[in-house]
Amino acid sequence: MFSTELYIQRRNELKKNIHTGIALFLGNTDTPMNYPGNTYHFRQDSSFLYFFGLDLPGLAAAIDFESGQEIIFGNDVDIDDIIWMGPQESIRNEASKVGIGETMPYNSLNDFISKALQQKRMLHFLPPYRGENKITLNQLTGIPVAELKSKASVELIKAVVKLRSIKDKYEIAEIESFMDVAYLMHTTAMKMAKPGVYEREIAGAIEGIALAHGGVVSFPVILSKRGETLHNHNHGNLLKHGDLVLIDAGAESPLHYATDHTRVAPVGGKFSQQQKGIYEIVLKANMDAIKAIRPGIPYKTIHLLAAKVIADGLKDLGIMKGNMEEAVAMGAHAMFFPHGLGHMMGLDVHDMEDLGENYVGYGDGLSRSDQFGTAYLRLARELQPGFVLTVEPGIYFIPELIHQWKDEGKFKDFINYEKAIEYIGFGGVRIEDDVLVTDDGYKVFGKPIPKTIAEVEELMNL
Ligand code: GLY
Ligand code: MN
Ligand code: MN
Repeated sequence: MFSTELYIQRRNELKKNIHTGIALFLGNTDTPMNYPGNTYHFRQDSSFLYFFGLDLPGLAAAIDFESGQEIIFGNDVDIDDIIWMGPQESIRNEASKVGIGETMPYNSLNDFISKALQQKRMLHFLPPYRGENKITLNQLTGIPVAELKSKASVELIKAVVKLRSIKDKYEIAEIESFMDVAYLMHTTAMKMAKPGVYEREIAGAIEGIALAHGGVVSFPVILSKRGETLHNHNHGNLLKHGDLVLIDAGAESPLHYATDHTRVAPVGGKFSQQQKGIYEIVLKANMDAIKAIRPGIPYKTIHLLAAKVIADGLKDLGIMKGNMEEAVAMGAHAMFFPHGLGHMMGLDVHDMEDLGENYVGYGDGLSRSDQFGTAYLRLARELQPGFVLTVEPGIYFIPELIHQWKDEGKFKDFINYEKAIEYIGFGGVRIEDDVLVTDDGYKVFGKPIPKTIAEVEELMNL
């Protein structure tokens, strides 16, 4: 947990942004996996963690923006709980750690919210994403489950996004503190990527590293020689000499701040000439994009810069053709780079995605492209010091997409389909780093994970 003062300060900042009504924050509950007593690993809600710090199931919190009152709702454990779970601190003690003096049993929430609604007080809540909390919110407010998202408070969403988007020095230190674990996960994966090894052996080993260091993975490990599938969670393939294995993995620190990196390893330890050609393009896109990061530049500009590097590189290889400025403007590059350059990262690996991607990544006055590829850009707005984001360009050869566009005759002035078809079976290359926007530029988090061809090959052949 951070200091008591930090949580008080964060709530005070929220109060400076909202002046009327009551905000209700529902923490997460223990959620059954296959029967009630066998629960998923508990993960607290990130906005609850940000303002209230308490990493325990079954809590809620309220802030009255008019009176300043702050309450934690939760139940003290009884002897039965102690027998199974061991001794637990009282809710009063827990609440005091984050500077809140008033606590109430969880079932008082009903009366508290009913009274507020009778008094016609504005009730602010964030969009719920878990079934349990949707039901609770429905029972407390009477709002149908299907309408909860649209009835969430835009004022609260915007205020929370504004605060959580700028990481303070404590959050930055927490993110940095787990980068050695990210380094170990990725270097272990690269060293393990040898012929005769199953993908699942590597995936299991690196998830184990996150656990062994007091964290968890920040999202299910993406690891496959079929790297063209962007979020490939199937780890059943046996690696053979000459395969290219894509590893997109991160860890979550004890305070739940994420890391998120992607590296690509040639099975057997040497990239082929064809693999080198594609890899070098993605590497240039990654490094040029990182170098362009500074306050004031829209991230969409950097996304398009990376897209242009990719298109130019593919043209040099004969896979694309024609005028690459036009190709990128029209979205032809998205055949090979069909996702955004990156996203905010913090308490969530895709930070605050539950609050709405457009609030987080676009903001007022900036609308999302509806063009295939660029439409998936999660972060487009002007960068500010304190933003933490990922830079993750990639090139993929997706057989179904290549065939579909070819059959449609799509972008035939920009794509050399005969050449693209030669790359079917190649897989994909993505190179991802985590970056802090500083006052005058950027800082890449962590000890550099081998990234150039020479660095990757050296590590794999140690
Ligand atoms: N880990 C998924 C992503 O890179 O966004
Ligand atoms: Mn990733
Ligand atoms: Mn990412």
